[in-house]
Amino acid sequence: MGKGSGFGKTILFGEHFVVYGLPAMASAIGDSTLAEIKITRGSGYELSDNRPEVPGYKEKKYNEQKVSIKNVFDYMGLDIEKNHVNITLGGDLVCASGVGASAASCVALARAINDELKMGWENPKINEAAYEGEKGYHGTPSGIDNTASTFGGLVYFVKNLEGESNTMETIILAKPVEMVIASSGMTANTSVVVADVRKKKEENPEWFNGIITEYKKLIVEARKALEEMDLKTVGKLMNENHKLLQQLTVSNEVLDKMVKIARDAGAFGAKVTGTGRGGNINALTPGKELQDKVFNALTNVGYSAWKTKIGV
Ligand code: MEV
Repeated sequence: MGKGSGFGKTILFGEHFVVYGLPAMASAIGDSTLAEIKITRGSGYELSDNRPEVPGYKEKKYNEQKVSIKNVFDYMGLDIEKNHVNITLGGDLVCASGVGASAASCVALARAINDELKMGWENPKINEAAYEGEKGYHGTPSGIDNTASTFGGLVYFVKNLEGESNTMETIILAKPVEMVIASSGMTANTSVVVADVRKKKEENPEWFNGIITEYKKLIVEARKALEEMDLKTVGKLMNENHKLLQQLTVSNEVLDKMVKIARDAGAFGAKVTGTGRGGNINALTPGKELQDKVFNALTNVGYSAWKTKIGV
């Protein structure tokens, strides 16, 4: 039996902007997806998907997941006309839009195949296979999710739009920082949301360029603030990033409300994380006490939330 795992992730800065070649920063979180595979004689594959989920997530993603699994098989040369593959997915990462659930499962699957077939692939090749898998979920992924999921840690990522290698740097924080992630309970379709933002950009390039100009400034300051552990500034910039995401129309009333609850409870900053129009928010909550306070504020009004750390 082959086994593998992939981390969940949270985007601190730059979802959607990253699709257009602008830098973004994401961190792996402690929760992960585990995959086990067994290859026997025969053909086709069977999937037991035991991952925890926000209601409806797996059903909504089922068709995309089929394409994704096939993409990973093809990239890794696993021919299911000549082999029967049993896949079991599990782990403690709760599947929801915004935590990199799709990327984590692609990474876990690629690692499990690598293990079962003793292919000897290291992280860069696993990351490539997972990227192919991510294409099943949305046609034009930037690659930030699978990169954070494969390599772990806090990642500064720039997609190369010419098809050359992407830029990936690991940022080491002086110490891990507590965060809270909370789910709106709504599952978003990344391809639909990314395509809609692109349409808006094409319809009104001037408007989009204005937002891009602000973001470019923001990400430079954000990286510096993180490296200097100036967490108040990091939080303030997360709030500004949220405003830009509102302008891109990827936040909504529920996400705005959640962000406000987190900030009112003392979070240094809070924003949509990931695709938006559903999915999750994240909140910067340095220290266990503040983390508990923000977590309680969100869960007391009925949202599911998770405590995690970045820069681990
Ligand atoms: C999804 O987690 C992040 C997006 O920027 C899409 C991508 O980067 O491929 C919305």
